[in-house]
Amino acid sequence: MRYSLEAYVGFLIFTILIDFLLHRLIHNDREQPLSRFAFPLGTFWFISVPAFYIASFSTIFALIQTAESALIYVVFQWLLTSYLAIYLPKLFYYLGHRLTHHAIRIKSRFAGNGQFKKMNEGRYPTISRKKFLSQVGILMASAPFISLLFGVMKGRFAFSKRYTKLSFPNLPAAFDGLKIVQISDLHLGSLNANYKEMEEAVQLINDEDPDLICFTGDLVNNFYEETIGWEKIFSKMKANVGKYSIMGNHDYGDYSKWPSKQAKADNLRKIKEAHERLGFTLLNNSSELLECEGEKIAVTGVENWGHPPFPQYGDLQKASKGTEEIPFKLLLSHDPDHWDAEVTKKFDHDLTLAGHTHGMQFGIEFKNFQWSPAKYKFRRWAGLYNIDKQYLYVNRGLGYLGMPARVGMPPEITVIELTRGPLGTEPM
Ligand SMILES: [Fe+2]
Repeated sequence: MRYSLEAYVGFLIFTILIDFLLHRLIHNDREQPLSRFAFPLGTFWFISVPAFYIASFSTIFALIQTAESALIYVVFQWLLTSYLAIYLPKLFYYLGHRLTHHAIRIKSRFAGNGQFKKMNEGRYPTISRKKFLSQVGILMASAPFISLLFGVMKGRFAFSKRYTKLSFPNLPAAFDGLKIVQISDLHLGSLNANYKEMEEAVQLINDEDPDLICFTGDLVNNFYEETIGWEKIFSKMKANVGKYSIMGNHDYGDYSKWPSKQAKADNLRKIKEAHERLGFTLLNNSSELLECEGEKIAVTGVENWGHPPFPQYGDLQKASKGTEEIPFKLLLSHDPDHWDAEVTKKFDHDLTLAGHTHGMQFGIEFKNFQWSPAKYKFRRWAGLYNIDKQYLYVNRGLGYLGMPARVGMPPEITVIELTRGPLGTEPM
C-alpha cells in the first residue's frame, strides 16, 4: 500500500512537471506568431491529456483496493501502456532538446563566437537552431515509442531459453545429468487468454524433455478466476520425474481488501487447488524426496518469504523437515531476498530457484553486460549467483505484470542440467 501510494504521488508529480516543462519549451520555441486558434488548441491538449490520465489512474487507485475481479488489472495494464507510449516520448523529447541545446551552447562558447553555427557547411539546406533542436527531440522521442511498441507486439511473447550447467560433488551419481526446467511469474490474469502464445512456451519446455519442471510462484495477480481455462495449456507440460510449484507474493489475494475473511480464504484455497489443477505438486513449506537407484535428493518448496512489504509466510525450518540426511537439496523460493536473508546463513540447500523480479521487464543484456532498473531494487535480480557451496538462480519470469510488454528482458525458460563433479558451472 505504501509503495503504491509512493508510485501514485510520483506519477502525479512526473505528469504535471513534464507537461508544464514541455508546454513552456514549445511556447518559447515557436518561430512565428501563433494563429488565433493554435494557442488555445495547444493548451487544451496540454491540459486534457494529463487530466484524463490523472482522473483515470486516481479512479483505478481507489478501486483496486477493494476490487473483486481481475478485470481491473487488465484495464490498468492497457491504461499504463497508453500512458507510457505518450509520456516516455515526451520525457525523451524534452531531454533530447535540452541536452542538445546546452551542448551547443558549450560548444559555441569554446568556438568563441557565441553563436550557433550552421551544422552542415552549406552542403544541405540550412535549418535554424530551434528546428534542429526540435528534430533532435523528435528523434529521441521515437526511441522509447518504438521500443514500447515492439515490447507489446513481440517482446512479451518472445520466449528465450537460458541454459546453465551446474556441477556438485555431493549430487548422487544416479541423478547425474538431471535436467530441470524452471519457469516463474506467470501472472495468468495479465496474459488475458493469450492461450496460443503460451502453448508455444509449453512446446519449448517439452522440447527439452525435462526431468523436473519447477514453477517458482506468482501464478496469478490476485484472484483465482485468473486460472480458469489455463489447465488445457499447462497440463500439456511433460516432465519425466515431476512438476513442482510454490506460492509467490501475488498468490495470497493480499493486493485487495476482501468483503470478509472467508472470501479471502476461499480465494486462497482455490488458488492452491489451481496449482494442482494445472498439473503441479504445490510445495507449501514442505519437501518431496526423489529416489533413483536407491539414492535420494530433496526438492523443498517454501511459501513466499520477502522483505516487507512482501509477506513472510515461508518457514524453511518446517519445509526442510526430513531432508537432514539427504545429500543434495534443491529449494524453490519465490523471492531471491530469501536466499541472502536465510538460506545462505542458516541452511545448506545446494541450489535455490527464485523469480519475483521479472528483470523489471526492461533492460539491456549483452554478453557479460547486464543492466536493468531491477538492479537498484533487488540485490539478486537475474541469472546465477554463488556464495561458497550454494547457488541461486533467478528466473526473469515468463509472464508480465503492469506493463504488458517486455523490452530487452524476454520471457524466460531456464534449463539447468545438474552433473556430479567438482563444484562449479560448466559451459553448455
Ligand atoms: Fe511476479
